[in-house]
Amino acid sequence: MKMSVGLKTMAFVKLNRRVRRILNVRKYVSDQLLADGEVKKQRIPLNINTNMLKIGFLGGGKMAQALAKGFIRAGLSKGEMMLASCLPNDIGSIETFKEMGSNTVFANAPVIDYGDVLILSVKPQVVPKILPEIHDNKKLLISIAMGVSLTSLERALPEKTPVIRVMPNTPALVGCGATVFTRGKYASDKDAEVTEKLFSAVGICEQVPENLIDPVTALAGSGPAYVYIIIEAMADGGVKMGLTRPIAYKLAAQTVLGAGTMVRETNIHPGQLKDDVTSPAGSTITGIHHLEKQGLRSALIDAIEAATLRCREVSLQTEKDK
Ligand SMILES: NC(=O)c1ccc[n+]([C@@H]2O[C@H](COP(=O)([O-])OP(=O)(O)OC[C@H]3O[C@@H](n4cnc5c(N)ncnc54)[C@H](OP(=O)(O)O)[C@@H]3O)[C@@H](O)[C@H]2O)c1
Repeated sequence: MKMSVGLKTMAFVKLNRRVRRILNVRKYVSDQLLADGEVKKQRIPLNINTNMLKIGFLGGGKMAQALAKGFIRAGLSKGEMMLASCLPNDIGSIETFKEMGSNTVFANAPVIDYGDVLILSVKPQVVPKILPEIHDNKKLLISIAMGVSLTSLERALPEKTPVIRVMPNTPALVGCGATVFTRGKYASDKDAEVTEKLFSAVGICEQVPENLIDPVTALAGSGPAYVYIIIEAMADGGVKMGLTRPIAYKLAAQTVLGAGTMVRETNIHPGQLKDDVTSPAGSTITGIHHLEKQGLRSALIDAIEAATLRCREVSLQTEKDK
């Protein structure tokens, strides 16, 4: 049964309240972190809702920004309750966090001190440089680094550190992320719940065994890039046949969104949905015939296989480099 917009809003508000209760965040923010890494003690103004998570991003790149925007949008945190470490030359990221009301620092230690939850969001090869800076096991570390296993994270961290490995994707920025996570040995049910709530707030979030993270990365992590190409190519086709660029992009993007929503909302097999719009001797079956001749299906299957193998290669390389 479909929920009305009103019911959906109420359910969302209730979920948010529950999330905030579960997150059980601290009542006072006491440190203001300045861009040069200096920490200034301060009392929080009374009008700040403290019933939210303090999030520390170790690495403030594209994915960290997408998540930060998504968490703010979902009401799980506020710009001023997030802190990100950025390299001094990464002006773009520093500016983006500033626009969200967040401070950035040039060192990782202030972020480690600050966050209730730490999100490790640097490139995989930078991970070994950062983990030794974490000196106790008091905080949940959520790693989004591609190919870095739970075992290697746990090995490099103080004993019994709760770790959760997550694979998100960039549509988290617009609340349409597809995320999976897997729990480390010392991550509690509550840690898993916090992770699930955070990432469910920016899309869908599922728990999977760790050996499925690489195929998920290939499908959902890299998937938006494949779909952007599909959208661009469909729009090119429309332009070739006389549509203007703006309308062609709009229609192609909306068509992908609509088709994805049909699959998700109706639970009808995509093959059946395809059959339903393919009339005998019609234009759709003619188009499909061309796609099949050009090997679209195999190209996508091959792409996901190749990307999975590449993830495995990167994991092995990351392990070797340590
Ligand atoms: N993008 C995606 O769709 C996606 C999806 C799933 C998972 N991931 C994972 O998310 C992680 C981040 O990816 P991304 O696309 O956000 O990469 P990114 O934009 O390059 O972000 C990494 C950030 O960390 C900064 N950094 C480098 N060395 C640092 C250090 N020592 N201390 C603190 N910060 C440092 C980088 O600065 P510089 O740019 O100046 O080097 C950059 O701003 C990766 O491990 C990736 O595998 C990404």
